[in-house]
Amino acid sequence: MTAPDPQEAALVAAAAEVRGAARCPYSGFAVGCALRDRSGRIWTGANVENASYTLGLCAERVAIFYALTHGADAIESIAVVTGADRPAAPCGACRQILFEFAADADLLLVTTGGAELRTRVRDLVPFAFDASFLAPREP
Ligand code: THU
Repeated sequence: MTAPDPQEAALVAAAAEVRGAARCPYSGFAVGCALRDRSGRIWTGANVENASYTLGLCAERVAIFYALTHGADAIESIAVVTGADRPAAPCGACRQILFEFAADADLLLVTTGGAELRTRVRDLVPFAFDASFLAPREP
């Protein structure tokens, strides 16, 4: 068995802690996300829902928008904690946003019951649409 990585454990702990701040009265599905940047700083966010359901925002986007607007360095690792019965993968919208800003990040999906799934943001978005399609061209 490999020894637990303390940096990874801290990231998961941060995601689990911020999950407690989720505002999810409609779904009851609390999600916490923590990002570690190249400088070792950890940035967190939880999902926030609204009575106008579609306006809610997932934990991943809350976390990355917060990080990007508060001085984060390149995002290297991401942990997402849910109370699901198996590791829950980010929704399609979050995949696109994470790909834009953290394509090479490691992604660790964890449940409160201790199940884990390791992947990378890039692997969740095959055939991604990105800025390369928007190169200057004739209209
Ligand atoms: N949710 C997240 O925050 N992240 C995910 O990866 C999946 C879903 C939120 C959105 C909504 O508030 C609740 O979970 C149920 O879909």
